[in-house]
Amino acid sequence: MKGVILAGGSGTRLHPLTRITNKHLLPVYDRPMVTYAIEALVRCGITELMLVTGGTHAGEFFRLLGNGHEYGIDRLFYAYQERPGGIAEALGLTERFVDGDRVVVMLADNVVERSLLPAVEHFLAQEDGARILLSPVEEAEHLRHLGVPELDGGGRVTRILEKPDDPPSTFAVTGIYFYPAQVFEVIPTLRPSGRGELEITDVNNWFVSKGRMEYDVLEGFWGDAGESIDAYYAVNDFVRAHGVNREA
Ligand code: DAU
Repeated sequence: MKGVILAGGSGTRLHPLTRITNKHLLPVYDRPMVTYAIEALVRCGITELMLVTGGTHAGEFFRLLGNGHEYGIDRLFYAYQERPGGIAEALGLTERFVDGDRVVVMLADNVVERSLLPAVEHFLAQEDGARILLSPVEEAEHLRHLGVPELDGGGRVTRILEKPDDPPSTFAVTGIYFYPAQVFEVIPTLRPSGRGELEITDVNNWFVSKGRMEYDVLEGFWGDAGESIDAYYAVNDFVRAHGVNREA
């Protein structure tokens, strides 16, 4: 299985910090943010990775990561997104790298406490379709800034709402997604959303509508360090106090 780390976007929610660097290069406790997502995937044995970035600081990733060997990456590829056209657009750039394989995608501002290995194993055991990871979030105000699943009583996702005014559950869709190669046939069918982006939630809803979306609920802490300056500091505080990417 291939791994994709998405580190493009404009990072406007962390302005003015992100005027001088890419959001995913900002420190989280003692190292740059992007290295946590890399570590999370490498520790699951996913060592063939493509990093997608964009904007004016793309070269800094090369300086930080080089060929990736220092981070346990076997083969590291880079792609450049010309403009922040959305998470699904960024994923679309990796089609030739993924080359018909399965792929796990992780947003470079997501940080997880526990190993992703159980979810990786569930996905590899699944015959078909996609998989998302949910994390319990109680506060409706927080959920309004995230993707939120609607669940039926039988453990199925019935649809996903992006940044809903009225969240249909108390779970967030985290920025960790598992897809079959068919995802690259779905992306070209998408239309830009109201914010002018190709939305990963539309990709996920395509799999939901075909009855081909599974999920796991993540145990332990999950944070989106790019959501707001408060979220950024909450993630920093957690990492400093407890550490992350612990074994299962
Ligand atoms: O973190 C989880 C959330 O991430 C999910 O709950 C939402 O459903 C999902 O849409 C996403 O929401 P965000 O509003 O946090 O997405 P954002 O625009 O901040 O992009 C997240 C990451 O994706 C960003 O850190 C880098 C990457 N990205 C984003 C865009 C818009 C790209 O690589 N290229 C892009 O064009």
